[in-house]
Amino acid sequence: MTGGVAAYKACEVARELMRADVRVKVVMTAAAQRFVTPLTFRTLTGEPVAVSLWDDPSQRVHHISLAEEADVVVIVPCTANVIAKMAHGRADDILMTTLLATEAPVIIAPAMNTHMWRKGITQANVTTLRERGVLFVEPGTGELACGDTGEGRLATVSEIVDATLAALRRVRSLEGVRLLVTAGPTREPIDPVRFVGNRSSGRQGYAVAEEATRRGADVTLVSGPVSLSAPFGVRCVRVETAAEMRDAVMAAYPAADAVVMTAAVADLRPAAPAADKLKKDAAPDLLSLERTDDILAGLGADKGDRVLVGFAAETGDVVGYARGKLTAKNLDLVVANDVSEPGVGFDSTVNRVVFVNANGEEHMPVMDKRVVASAVLDRLAILLKER
Ligand code: CTP
Repeated sequence: MTGGVAAYKACEVARELMRADVRVKVVMTAAAQRFVTPLTFRTLTGEPVAVSLWDDPSQRVHHISLAEEADVVVIVPCTANVIAKMAHGRADDILMTTLLATEAPVIIAPAMNTHMWRKGITQANVTTLRERGVLFVEPGTGELACGDTGEGRLATVSEIVDATLAALRRVRSLEGVRLLVTAGPTREPIDPVRFVGNRSSGRQGYAVAEEATRRGADVTLVSGPVSLSAPFGVRCVRVETAAEMRDAVMAAYPAADAVVMTAAVADLRPAAPAADKLKKDAAPDLLSLERTDDILAGLGADKGDRVLVGFAAETGDVVGYARGKLTAKNLDLVVANDVSEPGVGFDSTVNRVVFVNANGEEHMPVMDKRVVASAVLDRLAILLKER
């Protein structure tokens, strides 16, 4: 809770969540305590209420334990000030340190004066947070405490509770699912020291593996050479070439319920790699290339009831090409992106993707790759249920 007149509505949100069998722990900023007392929430929730970084030195570091044990964090109401502080990674009280330390999904229910909500800087902060994966329960329009009428009123209790319960369902949505993820580029040797490769950083696949593990999946990650370390709890198999990636994928495939193929597998490799380093005087002018196996097409041909997700880096008719791959490789979902767009995709931390499946397309905004990973896994969970 942060300090706003709508603070009393947080009492109702806490009660409704408890009725839905959710365990609720409350963190209050100093300003929030001007509106409602910690005792109210202590009584409502039956849990200690965190009000200061310096609460109780006998306990585990409180903001860290709160951050770690939370499945979802929901800020009701959230002021413009706390939105601004979050957007800049501030950590100056118990709420801000908890927010900075948590890996759980964060939901914000803003409440403020219309002009404060509409102000460019507030909207820029909201955009920053959205790109980083924070969810917003949009404020409604109506009579505000300051006497104005307009946008900025706290969303209704049921809207906030519904958003929280939906996020909680997502948190364990892949419990028990055996997921195979591929990531990174492959390197196809020209000789022992040189290779043909590509600029894939592996970030998107590592983000999928990490988020899937958090949601309860048992993840095997087959990774080409990247500079990332394996996410905690993920079984990581490291490979170099497309042929090695195919072998590692085929070995893990029988035990997989679903595959997310983010790897930028080389389509071509030098036909006759040299056993010894090529001296420049003896180097050929032309490199003769041959096709590698299409790993994903191979999986699609022996699919069973698995769910298969492919990625497609395209230029031009992005959706058209992606749809072609959906059918050609027998996939359930293609995550396509336009690699001609500057600053996103390959070797970047953000991506703009289009989801293409049998029913249509969904164009997404520019998002952090971890947010793209969440969006992919939301759709994967639905596809697994529909099998
Ligand atoms: N893929 C694969 N094996 C390959 C090549 C690609 O499994 N040898 C997978 C990628 O991991 C990705 C999808 O297939 O999920 C990309 O499809 P692909 O048709 O290979 O894309 P492009 O390489 O861009 O192909 P094209 O040049 O035909 O557009």
